[in-house]
Order: sequence, then structure tokens, then C-alpha cells
Amino acid sequence: MKTAVELDYTLHHLCIYDDKPRDNMFPYLRWHHGITNYFSGAVFHVTGEGHSDYTFLGCGGRAYQIQIEAPPFQFEYERNWWRDHGHGYNHICWLTSDARASMDQLLANGATEVMPFEEFPTYDGFVVHDPEGRWIEIMEYTDETFRVQEFTHAPSGECGLEVVGNAEVCQDLDAMVRWYQQIMDMRVLEEFRDGDQGMVVMVDKDYDPVERRSLFILQSARHDFEKEHMAKHGPYISSIIYQAKDVMRAWEDALWAGMEALQEPAIDPLTSLLTAHLREPCGGNGIMLTEHYAPAVTQAEAA
Ligand SMILES: [Fe+2]
Repeated sequence: MKTAVELDYTLHHLCIYDDKPRDNMFPYLRWHHGITNYFSGAVFHVTGEGHSDYTFLGCGGRAYQIQIEAPPFQFEYERNWWRDHGHGYNHICWLTSDARASMDQLLANGATEVMPFEEFPTYDGFVVHDPEGRWIEIMEYTDETFRVQEFTHAPSGECGLEVVGNAEVCQDLDAMVRWYQQIMDMRVLEEFRDGDQGMVVMVDKDYDPVERRSLFILQSARHDFEKEHMAKHGPYISSIIYQAKDVMRAWEDALWAGMEALQEPAIDPLTSLLTAHLREPCGGNGIMLTEHYAPAVTQAEAA
């Protein structure tokens, strides 16, 4: 069986389930985002159950993408998730060099099947639950040229906004940090701990503090809105993470764009970073906005 290192995992996108993507992508577009690709009909992902409707968005950064997926969801397991959870962050996707081998490796190590391995026109892929039930999508591009486009690294707007990754609320934070390290080859960049509160910032093997700052944060449920969501839905993908050169200006721009205030910018006592929380207006999905944060891997390893 191939090891996690051999499978070459890199973070790719976060998927939002949204029933009106044409209307609801506008708060993102007004908040300095751009569309990296729009896929509908007979491209990208066609199955016997129908076709997809996907819009990919990026903001300021090079690699990390947001994917908006809309009904009619093509697979029964997707329709079931929509029925049970409605609007929400549905999955995180990693790219691999070998999707078939990745499925064997994940199922042998605590993941459980959601969507069996399938060969699509442009990629091979599948979906599993991680050990706490969050969805992981795995893709291996098989077409010579087909890719979801990436932006160059260029912070957007006067506030210097970038989408840099996502956070997940865990039931057992330490167990999940170990699992994503051992099974998905994620590395710990920095840990913030205070009693039963914790945030662990993880990155993939291609992390670069300037050019490719894709972050994957595992955390305890810290705020009331996180505890309430977890009580209802279980461990979940909790927020998209943004960083800005000027957090106050990014906050004002977000409110103007239609995002809703959840917690005004303030120093987070755990991380010491100027941090704000917002909700996207359609689904109430969480957004975490912080000041620029980019430790070098070597610093974290040396610490
Ligand atoms: Fe996806």
C-alpha cells in the first residue's frame, strides 16, 4: 500500500452547498474575489446521475479555492447531506498523484466510504468521511491540460485580502491532528493552546509562507456559535479563513459586500492575532478574518 507521503496530498478546495449560487456568489465577488472557473453541463464531472453546476472562486492567493455547488445534487449521498444539513461547508478536497491507491490507503486507516472510486472524463476521484465524519474529497487529474485555474499570488483590494484555507471544529482535537499528520501528510505549522481551547495550524508539503499559504486549522469549539453548530451537526468544517494587510478595511469591505457581522475585529487571546468573524448571508456559513499570518515552516519546526 502506498504511504501518505507517496500519495503526494495537497490541499485544493472547500465546497459550499448553496441553492442559489448565481445570487449568492455576489457577496464574494463584491468582497474582492474572482471566478477561477465556472463549470456547468458536460464538462468536468458527468455521471449517469446527471451533471454538475460548479463555480470556483479565488481571492488574492495562488492555490486555495472555494467551490460553490448547487442543486440538483447529482448523487444520492449528496442529496442526503443537503436534506440533513442544508446550507453548509460540505467537503475539503485534496489532490493526489494516485486516487485509486489513495482510496485503499484512507479506507485502511479509519476513513469510511461516502462515494466509491470513479473515473470521470477529467479526473479520478472519490469521497470518504474522516474519522469524525467530515467529508474528504480526493481528486487525481487525468486529463493532460484540464485543471481548475489558479490565481497568481496577489493580495486583493486596498485591504490586501487573501483566502488562505479553512478551519474545522473537532470533537477530539489531538486525535484529529495525529490522523491528518499520519494519514494525510499534513504538517503542524503552529499550535495555540490554553486549557481546553486549542487551534492547530496545519499545512501540506507545498506550503510556502509567501507564494502558497494554504492553511488547514483544526480547533476545539471555542465560540458559542461553534458550540451551537456542533451540538446540532456534530464535528464540522467551520470557516473559510481570510487574511488581510488591513483587517479593519477588510471588515468594512465585507459588511459593504453583504457579509454579516458575527464578532468585530479584536485580538484573539489564544493566537494574539487581530481576528474577526463574519457570516456569509445566504447560508450563514462562517468566515474567519485575521491579520497577516505566515510563519516559515523552518521556524515552526525549530520551535
Ligand atoms: Fe469538490
